[in-house]
Amino acid sequence: MNKSKLSLISDLLKIVKPLFPIMIITIVMGVIGFICSIGIPVLGGIALLIYMGELTKITYNHIFYAVIILAVLRGVLRYAEQYSGHYIAFRVLAIIRDKIYTVLRRLSPAKLEGRDKGDLIALITTDIELLEVFFAHTIAPVCIAFFMGLIILFIMYQYSVVAMFILLVAYLTTSIFIPRLITRLGEENGKKFRSDFAVLSSYVLESLKGLRESMQYGNTKERMDTMQVMTEKLEDTNRELKEYEELTKALSDLTVIVTGITIFLYTMFVREVTNAPFEMVVIPTVLSLSSFGPFIALSNLSNNLLQTLSSGRRVLGLLEEQPQVEENISENIAKYEDINIDDVDFAYDSKQIFKNANMNFEKNKIIGILGKSGSGKSTMLKLIMRFWDVNRGKINIGNEDIKELNTKSLRNIQSYVTQETILFQGTIAENIRIARENASMEEIIEASKKASIHEFIDKLPDKYDTPIGEAINQLSAGEKQRISMARAFLHDAPVLLLDEPTSNLDSLNEAVILKTIKQESLNKTVILVSHRKSTLAIAEKVYKVE
Ligand SMILES: Nc1ncnc2c1ncn2[C@@H]1O[C@H](COP(=O)(O)OP(=O)(O)OP(=O)(O)O)[C@@H](O)[C@H]1O
Ligand SMILES: [Mg+2]
Repeated sequence: MNKSKLSLISDLLKIVKPLFPIMIITIVMGVIGFICSIGIPVLGGIALLIYMGELTKITYNHIFYAVIILAVLRGVLRYAEQYSGHYIAFRVLAIIRDKIYTVLRRLSPAKLEGRDKGDLIALITTDIELLEVFFAHTIAPVCIAFFMGLIILFIMYQYSVVAMFILLVAYLTTSIFIPRLITRLGEENGKKFRSDFAVLSSYVLESLKGLRESMQYGNTKERMDTMQVMTEKLEDTNRELKEYEELTKALSDLTVIVTGITIFLYTMFVREVTNAPFEMVVIPTVLSLSSFGPFIALSNLSNNLLQTLSSGRRVLGLLEEQPQVEENISENIAKYEDINIDDVDFAYDSKQIFKNANMNFEKNKIIGILGKSGSGKSTMLKLIMRFWDVNRGKINIGNEDIKELNTKSLRNIQSYVTQETILFQGTIAENIRIARENASMEEIIEASKKASIHEFIDKLPDKYDTPIGEAINQLSAGEKQRISMARAFLHDAPVLLLDEPTSNLDSLNEAVILKTIKQESLNKTVILVSHRKSTLAIAEKVYKVE
């Protein structure tokens, strides 16, 4: 294991520091439990010695009661160990998920715009679950094996130094050498499995989202075939990984048997020479044969461990990712004032969008932004929301740079109607209510009237209680857009950022919405983006972006 892997593990351990006490309890119970289970065959060995007349102080009765006590103890301890192990598992899942969601919230939306969604889903599901396995079912077994090994080797040392060394080498072989060998053989497959899996989930997700497009252009069969091929490839890789697991098991079993026979032959030889009692043969042989459990458990982890470590690397990578915009959490609350774009430069990486841009959005006015597709209209709204930070120049509200203002309060005074409406599972009322959680039904209806969607909703069988989940594909683009406008009117923030709010509407509905916007602008700043001059007729001033 190289240094980067060790530091990765230590970084991972830092995440679950609060669970250390429970981990220690798990380990202690595990060690005692294993000692109980090794004790049972050892007692069998002792019984054999009684039979051979080598032990006279102990009777079969003693052995019988001892076996029962050990067996019960073993059961209880095993239960307790599993119980605390699973407790750790659930806590770990909660801790890591909480961290991931906090980071995602911090990174969104700018850092998530360009991210592969399938990869993110794999991270939130598979990666985190593998980490759970690591914390709950890897660390404790490793520690248990370590302490168990020390105890058994110490006992073995009392019988024979040579046998102790043979056993030490065998422990290392099953827990380290064999897994390392197999790991090296299977490493490429492990990586391939994980990346193929991510590609497949992206592909499935994309196919589902684009089902309509695929059907229209008649390439659903190609998509299905590609999916089939990808799945088969994944299965092949998985089968190979499983074969390595089988090989590990076979090699470990072989080691156990060879070790047992070697120690038996060696101690027999010593007994011949020194005329020692049979105990010197029976106990070491039984001990060696019965004590491999925790080490074999380790070798089975090795295949997973590789995947776990790369999962860990991805999760930590996300946790350490810096947001595009450092959130301002100061007490400096944003107030409703004029917005000024002051000599702003902005580029997405190397793609320059604005150079020396100057705009002025006065309070209580409608101001338009006009420009052809791809010219940077939506980008300007995102800059005003501070989803991205400008490279040069300033965006001011009143006299204050928006970077100096509490980010949450900044977004609180703004309503942003995006070009693409996202609807959630739930009823229409619930979907509108996301703009203001405590809104009453009357307020929702009023907002819907302003957005010219009330009549449509009123004609639905369940009206505002119609579930959108089922109807989502039955809503027209214009209906979705009007629901999105209803949200903005309900949110009732003093700054309205409208990105092509009427692009999908007929002129009648557009006229209703534009009329509402005009009324709203009595006490609101409205920044209206459109590529239609007719829409922008209601604006008092129009900026053109090139
Ligand atoms: N996150 C991003 N990373 C890199 N480039 C981006 C990103 N978002 C947008 N762009 C690019 O920046 C340019 C401006 O995009 P923007 O969405 O602001 O255009 P727009 O004027 O709103 O166009 P439309 O009228 O089609 O909505 C486009 O060329 C787009 O490809
Ligand atoms: Mg746009």
